[in-house]
Amino acid sequence: MERLVLLVGLVHVLLVSTMEVNCANILFSGLFGEGSHFLSQVPIARSLAQKGHNITLFISEEFSHRAENPAYAGFHFETFSIPGHPGLIRRTTENTARVAFGKTTSVIQNLELLPDNLFMTKEACRAVLSDTSLMDRLKEIDMIVFDVTWPCGIYMKSYLLRHMNASSIRVAVTSPMSPLQYVHEIAGSPFNPSYQPTLAVGFSASMSFGQRLGNAINWALIHFLGKHYVFDCFSDFKEEFDLDSDLAMSSSFYYKYIDLYLMNIDFAVEFPFPLMPNIIAVGGLTSGPAKPLSEDLEKFMQSSGEDGVVLFSLGTSVSTFASTRSDLMEMFFDAFSRIPQKVIMQLKGPHDYKVPPNVKTLPWIPQNDLLGHSKTRVFMYQGGNNGFQEALYHGVPLVVIPFQSDQPDVAARVVSRGLGVKLNKKLLSADLIHQKLSEVIQNSSYSTTAKRLSAIFRDRPMRPADRAAFWIEHVLKHGGEYMQSPAHELSFIQYHLIDVVLFIIAIIVVIFYLLYRICKCCKSCCFNKSKVAKSKVH
Ligand SMILES: *[C@@H]1O[C@H](CO)[C@@H](O)[C@H](O)[C@H]1NC(C)=O
Ligand SMILES: *[C@@H]1O[C@H](CO)[C@@H](O)[C@H](O)[C@H]1NC(C)=O
Ligand SMILES: *[C@@H]1O[C@H](CO)[C@@H](O)[C@H](O)[C@H]1NC(C)=O
Repeated sequence: MERLVLLVGLVHVLLVSTMEVNCANILFSGLFGEGSHFLSQVPIARSLAQKGHNITLFISEEFSHRAENPAYAGFHFETFSIPGHPGLIRRTTENTARVAFGKTTSVIQNLELLPDNLFMTKEACRAVLSDTSLMDRLKEIDMIVFDVTWPCGIYMKSYLLRHMNASSIRVAVTSPMSPLQYVHEIAGSPFNPSYQPTLAVGFSASMSFGQRLGNAINWALIHFLGKHYVFDCFSDFKEEFDLDSDLAMSSSFYYKYIDLYLMNIDFAVEFPFPLMPNIIAVGGLTSGPAKPLSEDLEKFMQSSGEDGVVLFSLGTSVSTFASTRSDLMEMFFDAFSRIPQKVIMQLKGPHDYKVPPNVKTLPWIPQNDLLGHSKTRVFMYQGGNNGFQEALYHGVPLVVIPFQSDQPDVAARVVSRGLGVKLNKKLLSADLIHQKLSEVIQNSSYSTTAKRLSAIFRDRPMRPADRAAFWIEHVLKHGGEYMQSPAHELSFIQYHLIDVVLFIIAIIVVIFYLLYRICKCCKSCCFNKSKVAKSKVH
């Protein structure tokens, strides 16, 4: 009898679980296949593949080496090329690294890079929409997950629905960076520049008057640029490819095409702010338990003894500076030769520098695994969001040298939460590097804070990638319309209650006017009466 109950139970579980796995075709478009925008999508794709979904990674042929990489076995790949512009994406990315060491601020750099970036994203999207055989292969797609910096997924959805008889397609957006104002704007979620720092300003949540002024100006600038350039630069595709007429009107119509927003942030370190229900915080996508190191690396780590190891990387694109900036290289090596710690440094490309004996250079480093190693004392790096969360996961304090994009914003979070210190790239010197590194290594408050925030960061019911996968399955089943912000239905005047405020002011004015008239009337009546009374006496 018991066995029968058990068997019935088992059959029930099997049935339910097979019913649950409604295998969907999901396309991931992680900004062409390179860098943090791609890498932070992969764990979500992996989690969905484990649940039985059919995952296709959509990348540029410039990065088609991914398809041969055994780490991505189990995924399908679709590649596109941009006819007439071979190597465009690599060239544009290298530009980003070129200006990184320039004297200009992050806000100005973003503006400088904007035209080239827009040209690249637009040509890439045009190439995708023009490739009818590619579009035909994609017509069975149930869901598109695209990176926020390349909104082509929206135009692909429109194309597939209109021209390829595709049935419903769900769409999710991933954002690998610090909170982006235009994601909030598209999602109709409030963004208040009085306490939410905007992209690249590097402020914390408590701003001085001057900072709030700067933040408000940057907020208006991003609002204007986002509306009129970044998104609407694609609007002529509507004519070119006969897409939905809504698309050409304004980026604020994007919300109709998007079911879900996945933000790579976590409130363990993020300044608190409100979110619409369709924006899910999934910070920490690339972080996780460390895997064992190679024998060679493990030996180097152990050789550091009690002093431990400093990990130094400037990220995928900036690590190429060895060939162009020998002055900086000498500076870093000088500072490293003065500390008792060993140093592991990411350095790309061939070089013939005299490397100090305590330094090991590698073209690629297993960053998360090294951060999880017990000998790692501090992580010095450029301030990328993924690296921030990996260090946070493992409770490693930070020295941040922000260069561009949202890196000053990450640095602001690190400093304001007491996780480490910031180094100004314009003031870099061997002495300063040595001083800041020593401070973070010797003062235990940084590593104590890092351990405390790490415990908060890890204390969540699901892994970030599984949380993202759960929500993707949720909107595949139910759609995301029910979570859409009502703010989109309102005009600017209605949203800010300007009509209501004006109405109330008008009422108050009328009341005061009436009171004034009544008083005046009373006064003149009394005055007249007393006059009359006086004249009677005489
Ligand atoms: C999975 O996706 C690939 C590539 O997009 C497609 O060729 C294949 O038919 C899909 N498999 C299923 C079972 O739908
Ligand atoms: C879409 O459906 C229409 C009508 O059923 C058909 O004529 C057309 O060939 C289909 N197009 C594609 C690309 O399958
Ligand atoms: C250690 O750092 C903290 C936070 O910056 C600071 O408040 C404290 O005074 C420092 N302690 C020493 C001994 O320098």
